[in-house]
Amino acid sequence: MFKIDSARARAFVTDKQWRQSHERVMISSKSFDDRTGEGTEWLGWQSILAEPNDALLENLDSVGSDINKKADIFIICGIGGSYLGAKAVIDALHSGFQSDGPEIIYAGHQISGSYLKDLVAYLETPKPDGSRKEVYMNVISKSGTTMETAVAFRVLRKWMHDQYGDEAISRIYCTTSREGGALNKIIRAHGYRKFILPDDVGGRFSVLTPVGLLPIAVTGINIKQLFYGAVDAYRFLDENRTNLLEYVTARYALYNQGFAIDLISTFEPDLVSFGGWLQQLYGESEGKNGQGLFPAVAQYSTDLHSLGQMVQDGKRNIIETFITVDKPGESVIIEEDPRDYDGLNYLAGKSMEEINSKAYQGTLQAHLDGGVPVFTAHLEKRNEESLGQAIYYFELATALFVYAIGENPFDQPGVEDYKKAMYQLLGKK
Ligand code: PA5
Repeated sequence: MFKIDSARARAFVTDKQWRQSHERVMISSKSFDDRTGEGTEWLGWQSILAEPNDALLENLDSVGSDINKKADIFIICGIGGSYLGAKAVIDALHSGFQSDGPEIIYAGHQISGSYLKDLVAYLETPKPDGSRKEVYMNVISKSGTTMETAVAFRVLRKWMHDQYGDEAISRIYCTTSREGGALNKIIRAHGYRKFILPDDVGGRFSVLTPVGLLPIAVTGINIKQLFYGAVDAYRFLDENRTNLLEYVTARYALYNQGFAIDLISTFEPDLVSFGGWLQQLYGESEGKNGQGLFPAVAQYSTDLHSLGQMVQDGKRNIIETFITVDKPGESVIIEEDPRDYDGLNYLAGKSMEEINSKAYQGTLQAHLDGGVPVFTAHLEKRNEESLGQAIYYFELATALFVYAIGENPFDQPGVEDYKKAMYQLLGKK
């Protein structure tokens, strides 16, 4: 089962701080279970696991595998919680070099005109055999009104209708709320196929709904195993919450000591997007009324050559959460070179995995010695079940931590401010 080792971080906390923090986190945990905390109308991310909808999983799997067979390119058009969960799972389980299934392209996750122009040009470029590219798209927006996504969808929708005529209707899949929002109007007008994000699930908690599961299924990843990995964690953590409570207690105690940044680090490039998902989950849930740890993501060892100095020796307000895989997959073995010009023969016979693991252990020790409280998150394997478990663990940990700091984990009032200012500048009525 997914777990987080908090022992090294706990060493930075006095017994008194620990007791006080633990007491507070136990109260959070109880109010979460009793449904007496804020935002209880947003707990659909739990109820979907309490009563799995196998028919929905089956349907998403079948639509996904159909698109997988037909598409050369699959566009995931969404922002924030509407795409980060899918990207986290897809990147974790498909290395960038994998060639089976459609190419995955993200859109609607920023407002760059040159990105969209280049994307359309790329879609229009024929395949090496001269034939047109078969493009399919999933637009995802809970509100159905988010500007970044809506603008990209308007451009790409028109392109698809110009390109494929009426057939575009069967190539565009929409995921949104049951009712309301401009996207629902567009769906009705065109007759696009629709998947529903339940009203009681917020964007950043929605990866295990059609929001995340349809795009993930398109890539050939087993969404049932992913979902049931989360179901396992849900059932397990209902009874065995000690590890999670220790993690939240240590994190909360460190936050109260004045630690301000939670750096989510990994030595696996494929897990960086998982860090991106967690960054949003933590950031949007915690950052309210002057509170919260600032979540940042580091890809090691790459970023040891950029952020490393700061983590090791800069202002001592950083805690670090390493995301690791206990049983990594196959690797490359370093061979003996008779000339040894590069002086690397001392590594001969070792796997890259072994070297990476030593780099991780060395970094962890150095950061600890430099005064950084370190947590280690353990995915058993880089597979669907482990990721499903980790997703639910972090969702629950988020809820309990945010209750402990006295905020509502499930809203994001601050996100509206930039939108208001932007709309005013753009002259929106
Ligand atoms: O977590 C959230 O609620 C947000 O990040 C949203 O997912 C993001 O703002 C996109 O919103 P929408 O899905 O309504 O387009």
